[in-house]
Amino acid sequence: MCGIVGYIGHREAFPIVLEGLKRLEYRGYDSAGIAVYNGEHIELCKTKGKVSDLEDKVKAEMNTSGTVAIGHTRWATHGVPNDVNSHPHYSNSGELVIIHNGIIENYASLKKELISRGYTFKSDTDTEVLINLIEDVQKNENVKLGKAVQIALNQVIGAYAIAVFDKKKPNEIVVAKLGSPLAIGVGENEFFIASDATPFLEYTKKAIYLEDEQMAIVRLKKGIKIRKIKTDSVVAPYVQELQMNLEQIVKGGYEHFMLKEIHEQPNAIKDTYRGRLNAKEGLIRMAGIDDNIERFLNANRIIIIACGTSWHAGLVAEYIFEDLARIPVEVEYASEFRYRNPVITENDVVIAISQSGETADTLAAIKLAKSKGAFVFGVCNVVGSSIARETHAGAYTHAGPEIGVASTKAFTTQITVLTLIALKLAKEKGSISHSNFHYHLQELELIPAKVEKALLQDDHIKKIADIYKDAKNCLYLGRGFNFPVALEGALKLKEISYIHAEGYPAAEMKHGPIALIDEHMPVFVIATKKGHYEKVVSNIEEIKARKGKIIGIVTEGDEAVKSIADHVIEVPETLESLSPLLTTIPLQLLSYHIAVLLERNVDQPRNLAKSVT
Ligand code: F6R
Repeated sequence: MCGIVGYIGHREAFPIVLEGLKRLEYRGYDSAGIAVYNGEHIELCKTKGKVSDLEDKVKAEMNTSGTVAIGHTRWATHGVPNDVNSHPHYSNSGELVIIHNGIIENYASLKKELISRGYTFKSDTDTEVLINLIEDVQKNENVKLGKAVQIALNQVIGAYAIAVFDKKKPNEIVVAKLGSPLAIGVGENEFFIASDATPFLEYTKKAIYLEDEQMAIVRLKKGIKIRKIKTDSVVAPYVQELQMNLEQIVKGGYEHFMLKEIHEQPNAIKDTYRGRLNAKEGLIRMAGIDDNIERFLNANRIIIIACGTSWHAGLVAEYIFEDLARIPVEVEYASEFRYRNPVITENDVVIAISQSGETADTLAAIKLAKSKGAFVFGVCNVVGSSIARETHAGAYTHAGPEIGVASTKAFTTQITVLTLIALKLAKEKGSISHSNFHYHLQELELIPAKVEKALLQDDHIKKIADIYKDAKNCLYLGRGFNFPVALEGALKLKEISYIHAEGYPAAEMKHGPIALIDEHMPVFVIATKKGHYEKVVSNIEEIKARKGKIIGIVTEGDEAVKSIADHVIEVPETLESLSPLLTTIPLQLLSYHIAVLLERNVDQPRNLAKSVT
């Protein structure tokens, strides 16, 4: 995944695009570049590394003055991350320049063709092929930039969000989208182009989200003209009013976005159920479910598809749906599901979970399920994202932008939405008693305050992190609703601290992993009062007998685990089905502090991007 930003208007374009790239760095950060048109020619600077490296290089090398600019922050797909492969890319004439997020799958054959016509290439990228294809069309067909982009894209197989600038037409930028997101910010005779709306929030709240297979000519004075790439038909621009504000996307005094997002969870969970949950009246209102209630009630089964942390939320949901709504649930890695030949019928309901709404495997799995007649429901955070648009119906998590690469508030808000759905279906089906339903609603309303309380353990958790930061391996154990939390705890530690960690159902330990336990092995055990407590205590005894170090996540006031564990971290008491919303908090903080103590790049861990497209 990469981030693209562009500006055309009356202001100095460079600072706008540079700041925009910083906000989009969660999308990729192995190289960055920027091109500015200064009224006569294009100035371009690019480098391997982060946007801050680009900033340093620009200071030394580039005249940044000009009112048109495009910039890119890259996550390599074709060609290693280096200066030459960084975007923007020039065409051979040097007159056109492009930024691109996506993959041109047939770039090799297009490149061969262009080479046979005399084109040369500096980089190994598919993007440089595309800009030369556009130039070739422009010359051979004698057409304007917009038409050339359209003809070229009709020869392309793959995915793209592109912005193209032609110095012969300095009043316009041509953009196009297929499979990668592209938003256009609409100001007063100025326009912003970006992978999401965050780069232009302080300038305008008006945005157009291009649909797949659409392109737009963004022209000063004349405005925006949108066309379908394939059919050439004109599309009326749909301008949305953005609800996001700037405070939501800056660190707000926290050292890292991840820490900010961990601490945002009480409010994020509240925002997720706000307007949907009314404990007093015993009501759950969710338009996406209400409008499709029969599909859910008549479903043979629910298949949940997702990746990574979202898959873990799906696993928690499996326990909740089965327990409360008595509907059979299967949870699938989207990346496996899409390549199998899964048995799906029209009576299946598929729930796709994705924070970004852009994960390619999840998107492909959705398309597969739809092609087999299933009803597909999306649980996404990013409004207007590809998955939100591709699904038949859905419910947003309303967690606000998640910028730290490691998912935190996305996980707890996904579980919140899925719990609301399970409770609603349970009520409709009559599989939950009236009093239990009300009890769940009341408890769910108390969760934000309890998360707040769990967060107060931060200093204590930091001390524990300091003790175990040098561990080479860690085990995470949990049972029932908290088994997926063990998986999620291990994933959080791996991805930001680079310490090897495994999550297991506690009872599986004796089938193998117990062989790993010695005095060097920290074992994080979720041992809350409700849910197989005695059995987990026995598992802890087994670890103790083998000299493993035990860190228990326990219910406030616990005595039994406290007496055997090396350390305990308390969380408030709640219903077993809601306990993942609390037990996950200390595990997020532990990973965070270990990573900080090890001086890792917490918000941008190595080899990872925020969304795998
Ligand atoms: C882990 C993490 C990833 C994502 C996964 C799915 O912290 O962030 O494992 O959960 O790539 O991403 P979404 O939810 O955007 O589909």
